[in-house]
Amino acid sequence: MFDENRYLRDVLRPRQRRTLMLLLVASLLALIPFEWVQNLLQTESRSMLSKTLFNETDQTDASLHSTANAMHDPPSPRTMTGTWIGNTWVPPTGWKYHTPNELRQFYSGKRILWVGDSTGRRTAMNLYALLDWKNSSFLADELSSPNLIDAAKKGPHECNKWIEANFRPNNCRTVNFTSEEEGEHIYVKAVCHTDVERFLQTELEGRANITADIDVIIVAIGIWDVIRPQACRKGLQNRTLVEMVSDLVELTNELQITTGKVVIWRTSGYSEQQEHIINKTSTLNNVTMNKLDQVRVNNTLNGLPNRFNYVNWGGAVLARSRPGERIRGDMKPHYGLEPRHVLIEMITNLLEKEEYLRNMSGLS
Ligand SMILES: *[C@@H]1O[C@H](CO)[C@@H](O)[C@H](O)[C@H]1NC(C)=O
Ligand SMILES: *[C@@H]1O[C@H](CO)[C@@H](O)[C@H](O)[C@H]1NC(C)=O
Ligand SMILES: *[C@@H]1O[C@H](CO)[C@@H](O)[C@H](O)[C@H]1NC(C)=O
Ligand SMILES: *[C@@H]1O[C@H](CO)[C@@H](O)[C@H](O)[C@H]1NC(C)=O
Ligand SMILES: *[C@@H]1O[C@H](CO)[C@@H](O)[C@H](O)[C@H]1NC(C)=O
Ligand SMILES: *[C@@H]1O[C@H](CO)[C@@H](O)[C@H](O)[C@H]1NC(C)=O
Ligand SMILES: *[C@@H]1O[C@H](CO)[C@@H](O)[C@H](O)[C@H]1NC(C)=O
Ligand SMILES: *[C@@H]1O[C@H](CO)[C@@H](O)[C@H](O)[C@H]1NC(C)=O
Ligand SMILES: *[C@@H]1O[C@H](CO)[C@@H](O)[C@H](O)[C@H]1NC(C)=O
Repeated sequence: MFDENRYLRDVLRPRQRRTLMLLLVASLLALIPFEWVQNLLQTESRSMLSKTLFNETDQTDASLHSTANAMHDPPSPRTMTGTWIGNTWVPPTGWKYHTPNELRQFYSGKRILWVGDSTGRRTAMNLYALLDWKNSSFLADELSSPNLIDAAKKGPHECNKWIEANFRPNNCRTVNFTSEEEGEHIYVKAVCHTDVERFLQTELEGRANITADIDVIIVAIGIWDVIRPQACRKGLQNRTLVEMVSDLVELTNELQITTGKVVIWRTSGYSEQQEHIINKTSTLNNVTMNKLDQVRVNNTLNGLPNRFNYVNWGGAVLARSRPGERIRGDMKPHYGLEPRHVLIEMITNLLEKEEYLRNMSGLS
């Protein structure tokens, strides 16, 4: 059973504080230019690296160099949350809004797989609509229509591919960009960390090949493990949520390394509930981002593929999540159109800045 006290104690115990310290170092490291890290690994031993990073009094040329360069390197995705002016989200410096045409050009021919809960599905269908509908403007009513964002929510699966798969996609929609270029937008329902874990295991073991032709996988979970823990634990799990997050991030990284797929993790939004639920979701998001940062630094240090990244959507929508401030959806864990659009823009900006989709064929 999910033990809330144990969970919070786990998060706050000394080992986790050490992890935070490590993370601080990790974030610093993430700012160091890649060539410099490569150089360092070639010319100096690992102990030299840790000395450079941990001995504050030992100001080597390298550490001075990295400090000087930190100003020019991209900030952590954790802080790329923007601000709000009324219901308009203002992107953080360096990010922008895209016109529908820019979105169409950017995603032309791309195959996107969303693995997640209803908040993922609703955004997936909005991205699909922005790409497929040839309208010049998009009305809130249309983009929030249950026919679109709740398609195949309850009824039969809309997707007629992979019908034997354990995680048969609920939706798979094709977008005709031009007469030759098609894109695909697939949604697989997986609401708990353990669901995503089982899905990735079936993919890694070749029992299903839903991810085979996919360019970008978006993981969009979190809220169920916070507000419906009993549904996510089902009496089977002896791991804490923190341990499950750690295991799942590592498993996702394994898929990323072995397949070269781009994987974007989205931190969770907040259900419109009491403060302790907000606190718990925020804790889950922080723990998840800490783990992702560690894995990403480790990938870089080991020269492994590193197209596993995240957008801190939870951080972006927090200000619009509480009663009175909330941009409401049809139920407490859902939001209205603006936060869904914010997620689309966050993912698009990250993919664009990191150039993850440029020349996919050159990276296998
Ligand atoms: C840290 O730097 C000081 C001053 O340069 C040096 O004396 C000391 O040996 C260093 N410690 C380690 C662990 O490298
Ligand atoms: C936009 O496109 C959708 C799908 O093609 C259509 O249902 C909707 O009526 C259109 N809206 C406008 C304002 O043209
Ligand atoms: C896309 O275009 C092809 C050929 O032009 C057509 O057969 C197919 O029905 C179109 N698909 C959609 C979803 O419009
Ligand atoms: C998935 O692809 C692998 C490698 O091509 C193949 O061995 C396996 O049988 C496929 N699995 C399914 C369920 O199609
Ligand atoms: C959970 O239980 C399984 C078997 O019941 C055991 O193999 C595993 O080590 C346990 N994991 C933890 C983290 O205690
Ligand atoms: C979150 O909850 C924990 C445990 O109840 C508490 O110690 C901590 O101060 C809270 N954090 C915030 C940011 O409210
Ligand atoms: C999560 O981290 C943010 C800073 O990144 C902090 O403001 C917030 O209080 C943390 N949440 C919890 C519950 O500790
Ligand atoms: C770092 O990467 C190496 C090489 O893949 C792996 O063996 C190790 O377990 C990773 N460590 C962490 C903390 O992820
Ligand atoms: C993609 O990259 C590969 C290998 O780096 C290169 O051979 C190929 O020409 C590139 N294709 C395009 C369209 O840039």
